[in-house]
Amino acid sequence: MDTATHERWLADTRRFWDADTEFVARYRRICSSAAFDAAQDEAELLRLWNEETEKALALILEGIPLQAAWNCLEIGCGIGRLIKALAPRCRSVTGVDLSERMAAWSREYLADAPNAQVLVNDGRSLAAFADASVDFVYSHLAFQHITLFEVVDDYLAEIRRVLRPGGWCRIQNWRDAPKPVSESFKDMIRPLLGRGRYRSSRCWTWADGKEVKFGGVVFHPRDWRRLLRRHGFSVSALTVGAGHDFWMWTTFRRPE
Ligand SMILES: C[S@@+](CC[C@H](N)C(=O)[O-])C[C@H]1O[C@@H](n2cnc3c(N)ncnc32)[C@H](O)[C@@H]1O
Repeated sequence: MDTATHERWLADTRRFWDADTEFVARYRRICSSAAFDAAQDEAELLRLWNEETEKALALILEGIPLQAAWNCLEIGCGIGRLIKALAPRCRSVTGVDLSERMAAWSREYLADAPNAQVLVNDGRSLAAFADASVDFVYSHLAFQHITLFEVVDDYLAEIRRVLRPGGWCRIQNWRDAPKPVSESFKDMIRPLLGRGRYRSSRCWTWADGKEVKFGGVVFHPRDWRRLLRRHGFSVSALTVGAGHDFWMWTTFRRPE
């Protein structure tokens, strides 16, 4: 991807994630579901937030032999809710996020976690991290929103670089799913109406001048495995449907 395209993609993507208020960031962007929309007061929202965070951390750590001496890295960390939950269990947790607003809110949210921090990145690289300096990389609710294949590809190369030999990675993204009949029908009639092809309600690919939407590129599990192998990883687990039927969780390692 050339620099100008990357800059336009980054600006569009930041516009989507830079929420106006911390309330919107927390309860409409990071944790968005019908339950959060229906919550009546702050206490109920907080209860749901903590419950979802615990569930997410359990999925992130499934099969990971986490050690107290590990340095961990989260890609797309938002205001740091998972970092805060993980920090007491390891040496350090650093998050990267392309949104300056999310990073700003994380400073207060993580004020009582001295081994935790959030850095603003360019949405595709881990430039702040030295080669082989990280024991565990994880990402939840972020890869599913990445709207360019090239960005996913760049991140995988970066994860390979920053992980120490034998280091672990666990990522959640969206699997390619068969389209419901209603969407196939829309696909047929949209070109007749002079509109672009619909693709899938869960997948938007970024293009100049097109608004960034919620879902990013999706992968068939077979293609995802191939891509990970091409980046030199060994895949130790791939689960489809943990959490939601369209989620894919993958555990992979940089070989020793
Ligand atoms: C739904 S939130 C999830 C935040 C966090 N992982 C959690 O579960 O609390 C997605 C976050 O990923 C960030 N993000 C999206 N695409 C990104 C990218 N390419 N690089 C870095 N951050 C990204 C957004 O700014 C947002 O803060």
